Amino acid sequence: MRRAALVGAGLAVLSWLAVARAAEAPDPKAAAEYFEKHVRPVLAENCFRCHGPKKQKGDLRLDSRAGMLQGGDQGPVLVPGHPEKSLFIKAVRYTDAELKMPPSQKLSKVQIDDLALWVKMGAPWPGSDSESWSLRRERGGPRKSRGH
Ligand code: HEC
Repeated sequence: MRRAALVGAGLAVLSWLAVARAAEAPDPKAAAEYFEKHVRPVLAENCFRCHGPKKQKGDLRLDSRAGMLQGGDQGPVLVPGHPEKSLFIKAVRYTDAELKMPPSQKLSKVQIDDLALWVKMGAPWPGSDSESWSLRRERGGPRKSRGH
């Protein structure tokens, strides 16, 4: 009897851990799909024209995870896991009078929620893991340093 209860408790803890882990590190395939469907198109349509390969307004590129982590004039714009601390989320929410992005028109609520959820998931960006994104950054050429 006692033993069964212990095993039961153990299983409960294990399954709780599995759920907690899944929330932290989402299944890579599902995460990739989410990104391609809900995140990349929104950024590409609304942000890359000013924060992409051609222009880097505010010294910021949003077309790679590394670019977001490196950030712009004010430092990193992405804090994986923390939408409320991520400057680009603040910008699209239009809550900061000084920084509203995209400048012309606010994104839809669904788009904003999708971006925030992506950050919450840890901002998985398929094909940009440690090594590959540092390489890509080098290939992109040196960036001017920001004095702090
Ligand atoms: C029409 C051009 C334009 C578009 C489109 C645009 N931005 Fe910007 N962005 C700017 C300019 C200009 C600045 C810098 C000056 C300022 O603060 O307004 C800036 C600055 C920023 C900053 C602050 C960077 C820093 O460190 O100071 C963030 C974050 C940002 N943009 C996010 C976004 C996001 C996210 C999108 C798309 C949803 C977007 N922007 C679309 C022009 C644009």
